[in-house]
Amino acid sequence: TWTIGNIAEEQIERVREQIGDHRAICALSGGVDSAVAAAIVAKAIGDRLTCVYVDHGLMRKNESVAIEKAFRESTGAELKIVDAEKEFLDALAGVTDPEEKRKIIGREFIRCFERAEVEILGDSDEKVAFLVQGTLYPDVVESGGGSGTSNIKSHHNVGGLPEDLEFELVEPLRELFKDEVRAVGSQLGLPDEIVQRQPFPGPGLGIRIIGEVTKERLDILREADAIAREEMTRAGLDRDIWQMPVVLLADVRSVGVQGDGRTYGHPVVLRPVTSEDAMTADWARLPYEVMERISTRITNEVSEINRVTVDITSKPPGTIEWE
Ligand code: XMP
Repeated sequence: TWTIGNIAEEQIERVREQIGDHRAICALSGGVDSAVAAAIVAKAIGDRLTCVYVDHGLMRKNESVAIEKAFRESTGAELKIVDAEKEFLDALAGVTDPEEKRKIIGREFIRCFERAEVEILGDSDEKVAFLVQGTLYPDVVESGGGSGTSNIKSHHNVGGLPEDLEFELVEPLRELFKDEVRAVGSQLGLPDEIVQRQPFPGPGLGIRIIGEVTKERLDILREADAIAREEMTRAGLDRDIWQMPVVLLADVRSVGVQGDGRTYGHPVVLRPVTSEDAMTADWARLPYEVMERISTRITNEVSEINRVTVDITSKPPGTIEWE
């Protein structure tokens, strides 16, 4: 019979066969998917796995520190942190096209891993031949890797990979949907803090700033997003919605009145959605009081933002992320 325990065991066995007695690096993004993929591979090959977390500077407020702690405590796997904010922001300078952003971010990720590989191996002759990624079935389908679908977005962990890739990919979640991944994660002993985490895209806030990505804009979005997340948690809505991207329309300005003067600030868009598997989604009917609190706090506490809007588009026709 088919059980979550079977899936975990089967994947662990498959990974063991694929990797043999080589070593692997796991690309930890901070999300459920890569954490569960890492846990599977750690069970399969033990300390021949090194996890690498690339801090690309596109994460939400305080997120990197929290991820590091939760992952270390729950898996005991070896974790190396690469601070690459400057490289990513330099590479993204002047770029506004969504697909170009995704490709650049995917490419920089791989560069960081290649550097990490060199550092991890030091002078030894051993090669890290395998790169573990938390690619899910819907990612495969939407990036055109499945059967018969067109390419909607280049997910940074599938279509955005450069051609000169030196790794062989290990993708133990390639046939699974999100709910199955969560169940496998719990089965393997990961805490709810990781397993029940809402999805967050690999390219991070880089695809939630419409326009050029800069440090200043990221800091503005981080503040607005932190307020929105805090209020959603306070209202007990985290389990009811799939995720709620907060999007900064960085090239749009509108006139407002804040405090005792005219402002000419930016709008943010709240994008709360409900979904089963992210392939389709519906816009979430948030309680008015929650939207009100988020709006009031963001416009009071983030001086660059003078308007808060809500996206009421389903998927399709809209995608969940704006880019
Ligand atoms: P879209 O915007 O395509 O998003 O409706 C579907 C789901 O996927 C997440 N997402 C990504 N996850 N790498 C990821 O790991 C990516 O490049 C990526 N792009 C979108 C998105 O947050 C949503 O949950």
